[in-house]
Amino acid sequence: MANTIVIFGASGDLTSRKLIPALYRLQRKQRLPAETRIVGVARSDYTSESWRGMLAESTAGFLGAEFDPAAWEQFAQLVHYVPGDVTQAEDVRRLSGALESLETGSPAARIYYLSTAPRLYEPAVAQLGAAGLADESRGARRIVIEKPLGTDLASAHALNVALHQVFGERQIYRIDHYLGKETVQNLLVLRFANSIFEPIWNRNYIDHVQITVAEEVRVGRRGGYYDSSGVLRDMFQNHLLQLMTITAMETPVRFEADLVRDEKVKVLRAVRKLAGADFAQCAVRGQYEGYLAEEGVPANSQTATFAALKLHVDNWRWNGVPFYLRSGKAMSCRTTQIVIQFRKPPQMLFADGRRGDFDANRLVIQIQPAEGIQLHFLTKVPDAGMRLQMTDLDFRFGREFSGQLPDAYQRLLLDVLNGDASLFARSDEVELAWGIVDPILAAWNSPAAPELEHYPLGEWGPACSTRWMRQQNREWFDVCPVLH
Ligand code: BG6
Repeated sequence: MANTIVIFGASGDLTSRKLIPALYRLQRKQRLPAETRIVGVARSDYTSESWRGMLAESTAGFLGAEFDPAAWEQFAQLVHYVPGDVTQAEDVRRLSGALESLETGSPAARIYYLSTAPRLYEPAVAQLGAAGLADESRGARRIVIEKPLGTDLASAHALNVALHQVFGERQIYRIDHYLGKETVQNLLVLRFANSIFEPIWNRNYIDHVQITVAEEVRVGRRGGYYDSSGVLRDMFQNHLLQLMTITAMETPVRFEADLVRDEKVKVLRAVRKLAGADFAQCAVRGQYEGYLAEEGVPANSQTATFAALKLHVDNWRWNGVPFYLRSGKAMSCRTTQIVIQFRKPPQMLFADGRRGDFDANRLVIQIQPAEGIQLHFLTKVPDAGMRLQMTDLDFRFGREFSGQLPDAYQRLLLDVLNGDASLFARSDEVELAWGIVDPILAAWNSPAAPELEHYPLGEWGPACSTRWMRQQNREWFDVCPVLH
């Protein structure tokens, strides 16, 4: 069956920077199903011709030497533009007619991608429903939305209710672009296609887990949005908790969307809610120096640009194993890594004075920028008595496989076209994640909020984060990409 991808918010940044380049690359690799067309919708007054011209320019700028004008010409034939406001009934009815004439009377599956401002999600969905565009009698109808999916549990729930009034849950694809990253999917493969990890992937062997998403960038031009969001909403509610669920989940019965998501939901349900004194003991926050001078940020802002949380997953596998999650802007380097820190040997035979936690085995799963896995283990330094040294075994995607790793959107768009929701968040996942983050946000907004410590640019967050780990006899793995 043919496919029509309708992009609302067609003149926006996400469309030109991510969606169109991803679709163009898929077309070049001949991965787009035959008879796929792309229809942009926005209020701007483009024609199909002028929109194509604009996209050619932005895509060429984005892809550089990879951009091939001849291939673009072929791709551009799939691209159309219909001006309109998705919140206006009349415009949506007109769009419906335009889609039918493009589909020339034969049924097509449709994907509605809401690449609009989030405040338009609910009115847009209502209009799609009112115009009968969610009706599946002439082919599948799927809707794709992106974060922010609400700003707290109540608004996320309201959004889910609005979505469910028009679309069934299986028609809804909530993108978290971290799930489209190759190494995140490889974590599933590492855990569930290899038998050697399962026996040690639990409290008997693992001391703790660290999940770090460090960014070198500052908030840049996004100060206005960021200040009302902060690091917990921007990074933890979605990306970090997703990485945690994949690290912690049980083996799904089969690799099917609902079975995978059932297991992730169980992890979120098992996360112990912070209460009372926990807010001081299990969370630290910071703000980078100079944040208050960023465009769009109020001079007295208390928004955290860095946070570290200690979460417990109260189930048999993880009892007593803390999950440390941290993320921040303006940090030393860009790296996303999951560190599985194993326990120390019960008895150290080789007295060389190195007894710290960091001497125990460690598995580093590096999600980005370079993708790979590293296992750290102790070896004997030759000809030096019984002196030990931490050494490593490396696996690097870049060395093992040729070709460029696809951008997350390529994989995710293809999955939507194929109707596979395994790598998308379900409504209960989103709400449970807010249920974890909301109480921390509330505590940080209360008079009893812990101090917001400032940190210099280019460090691993505020000094209190390092002290906090040391008080627990642990060390952050503060290492810029171990693999290149
Ligand atoms: C987005 C956040 O969801 O993820 C940004 O809004 C952040 O603030 C970005 O910079 C990080 O994504 P990536 O893929 O660059 O790690």
